[in-house]
Amino acid sequence: MSKVTIVGAGNVGATAANVLAHKDLVKEVVILDIKGDFAQGKALDSYQQASVDGFSTRLTGTSDYADTANSDIVVITAGIPRKPGMSRDDLISTNAKIVTMVTRSIMEHSKNPIIIVVSNPLDVMTYAAYKASGLPKSRVFGMAGILDTARYRAFLSMALDVSSKDIQAMLLGGHGDTMVPLPRYTTVSGIPVTELIGEEELEAIVQRTKKGGGELVKLMGTSAWYAPGAAAAQMVAAILRDEQRIFPCCAFLEGEYGQDGIFLGVPVKLGKDGISELLELKLNEAEMKLMHDSADAVRDVLEVYKGMNV
Ligand SMILES: NC(=O)c1ccc[n+]([C@@H]2O[C@H](COP(=O)([O-])OP(=O)(O)OC[C@H]3O[C@@H](n4cnc5c(N)ncnc54)[C@H](O)[C@@H]3O)[C@@H](O)[C@H]2O)c1
Repeated sequence: MSKVTIVGAGNVGATAANVLAHKDLVKEVVILDIKGDFAQGKALDSYQQASVDGFSTRLTGTSDYADTANSDIVVITAGIPRKPGMSRDDLISTNAKIVTMVTRSIMEHSKNPIIIVVSNPLDVMTYAAYKASGLPKSRVFGMAGILDTARYRAFLSMALDVSSKDIQAMLLGGHGDTMVPLPRYTTVSGIPVTELIGEEELEAIVQRTKKGGGELVKLMGTSAWYAPGAAAAQMVAAILRDEQRIFPCCAFLEGEYGQDGIFLGVPVKLGKDGISELLELKLNEAEMKLMHDSADAVRDVLEVYKGMNV
């Protein structure tokens, strides 16, 4: 694979491109934005960093989809982010049109890309890209779970005073306040987290994780970008290296977890062809209920999207 396109040169897109370039895995990263000069500037600034940090990936910026031709992987970050007081779902009327238009334009120039959606509301925007692309479900999915587990792992690392490198965790459901962090699937170097932290403190961390995005929107006036950009780049890297890594990703469900026709966060295996396997965990009753509640919340937004006829 030799070409990755990132659509949206804003906070998340530019960060994803920069982190990816530092991994030095791909010949060319194209950053496309409706503001072409802005995209060119971000790409040029990032590429000048190559001389300092030592990577060979070429970054270019554009507003012309012809420059994205024959992309192997496309990351869509185009759209508006939240402002304080907004939920991710409030973004739908603007971002559904943008993500649909972007996907159609990408498909005019690339035959069989893998598309990773980042724009919010994530689960429904991934659905919109899936529909607009006509690609198989293994090649269209969304980034949220890596970020949400990263937040969960960061909070646990701070509480336990251990490196977040040693914290393994899984999280399911939609990318919203109904997301489902799974303490039963959380370990610290193989030690069940419940052996290291009290129930109340763990529950407080789960709740903080669910609202982790909102916490940052409140602090910064816009949504986060370092961890989201790095998370998207990590997915791209797993594909480029054909790593078959297991990540929580937003994937299309057809009966799994009792859900059908909806994109939702679940564990998947990622490699050169996109999703090679979707893993179904043996959830207990309480976890399954939380998963269904989260699916219901995503389905409400999905209905709004379907009513828009974009
Ligand atoms: N999935 C996640 O976990 C996650 C995390 C953080 C942010 N997000 C979402 O990612 C999106 C981007 O966030 P951001 O902070 O980078 O926003 P931003 O405003 O910094 O950047 C968005 C960019 O999209 C561009 N854009 C708008 N319409 C476009 C179009 N039609 N074609 C091409 N480019 C277009 C804008 O010019 C802008 O540069 C938001 O929807 C945000 O909610 C998702």
